[in-house]
Amino acid sequence: MTKSQNTAVVGLQWGDEGKGKIVDILTAKHDVIVRYNGGANAGHTVVVGDEKYALHLIPSGILYEDKKCIIGNGVVVDPVKLIEEIDTLRDRGIEVGDNLLISNRAHVVMPYHKEHDAALENKLSQIVGKGDQSIGTTKRGIGPCYADKVHRATAIRMGDLLCKETLQKKLDVTCAIRSAELNALGVETPPLDPQALTEEFVAYGKRLAPHITDTVYELHEAASDGKQILFEGANACLLDIDHGTFPYVTSSNCSTLGIHSGTGLPAKHLHEVVGIMKAYSTRVGAGPFPSEQLNEIGERIRDRGNEYGTTTGRARRCGWIDLVAVKYSAMICGATTIACMLLDVLSGFEEINICTSYNMPDGTVSKRFIPDAAHLVGVTPNYETLPGWEEEIDDVTNADDLPVNAKAYLDRISEYLELPIDIVSVGPKRSQTVI
Ligand code: GDP
Ligand code: IMO
Ligand code: MG
Repeated sequence: MTKSQNTAVVGLQWGDEGKGKIVDILTAKHDVIVRYNGGANAGHTVVVGDEKYALHLIPSGILYEDKKCIIGNGVVVDPVKLIEEIDTLRDRGIEVGDNLLISNRAHVVMPYHKEHDAALENKLSQIVGKGDQSIGTTKRGIGPCYADKVHRATAIRMGDLLCKETLQKKLDVTCAIRSAELNALGVETPPLDPQALTEEFVAYGKRLAPHITDTVYELHEAASDGKQILFEGANACLLDIDHGTFPYVTSSNCSTLGIHSGTGLPAKHLHEVVGIMKAYSTRVGAGPFPSEQLNEIGERIRDRGNEYGTTTGRARRCGWIDLVAVKYSAMICGATTIACMLLDVLSGFEEINICTSYNMPDGTVSKRFIPDAAHLVGVTPNYETLPGWEEEIDDVTNADDLPVNAKAYLDRISEYLELPIDIVSVGPKRSQTVI
């Protein structure tokens, strides 16, 4: 029997690095694809031929017929979005049946979580005399749902949707508390109706019941059977609740450190970590971004890279590559190899900057990242400048055919990170990949 050789795909920046594309490619040599964190705040794009798929909750491996896709216990599941996603895939001829399993312990995103998310953001944006203090969340209810997980008594898990009495009992309590909280945030809404919510969510439970199970045992059995498991990170390391640019982060451990709690598989089951980075940097929402280019360079990157959110459609903030940040993420995630994405976007720049250290407020120079917004905001980037390349490279499939300056750019990144770049992506399609 073959031994299980498992891989993680994780974003090393602030999200949208192209994880979906690489998960899709790596799915070919894995048997089980598992999401361990986040929720419908993620938007992972996979392009197959002329078809484009945007996946939010379902692992990006779903496009292959013979693979098992698992939504692990660490994910927060919005059943409305999930059912929508299943229906959309089915309408497009993709099978979603017993190839999709959902943890009975994954927490449920309820409508009041989304309302709370939006109301809190709204409140934070209007604190008199303090400027806009909002995070710029996706308003998918992610933070309030994870908060309920930590509060415990007010939490609803996928397994609860399978038993009306249990759900009703929980919602009786939770609705009373959440109604008061929403009112305190200035939302003028009638009290939440536990009866109506119970009816609605039991119906979702019925619909999703064939998929809901104890995925921890499923995963351990797969590992014992020598199946190859692919962990699909959502969001990204710099958005990790513990290790990202706090408080401008999401509410889960999106670095590889979240894999073990989010799936129930201990560390010995992780063997390879593919760190995904863009050839430049982007960020959606608020928070410090030392190498951001609020000028025609940033605009050019946004235009060429079509840098608009997969989930919210928001314009992404754009800038040069920040290797201080990426090296920090590679360290936290234990990256063993790098996939450098969207290199094609940089064609046509006369010169390209690489941030290799920070000027600190006290006049010193540092190569350490600062995972704390209040302090990171005080640094300015030091750049190395490399010559760019004119040629469009979106039809290159062989590393030898990349322009000399593009190769030199990749070599410098690899040298700085002390990691091999084994995948280079030059377009959204599967075929636009140099391995
Ligand atoms: P994810 O959240 O990390 O999966 O990334 P997103 O799907 O949100 O954003 C990445 C975007 O870049 C998507 O629109 C992809 O189709 C696209 N993309 C991926 N790789 C490349 C590439 O190498 N070049 C270009 N031009 N686009 C790419
Ligand atoms: P993928 O998986 C980019 C950002 C939001 C916001 C912050 C908190 O597609 O790379 P949340 O709704 O999670 O409470 O928002 O995190 N964010 C992402 N940005 N890509 C993502 O996912 C993101 N998931 C969360 O923009 O700044
Ligand atoms: Mg995305």
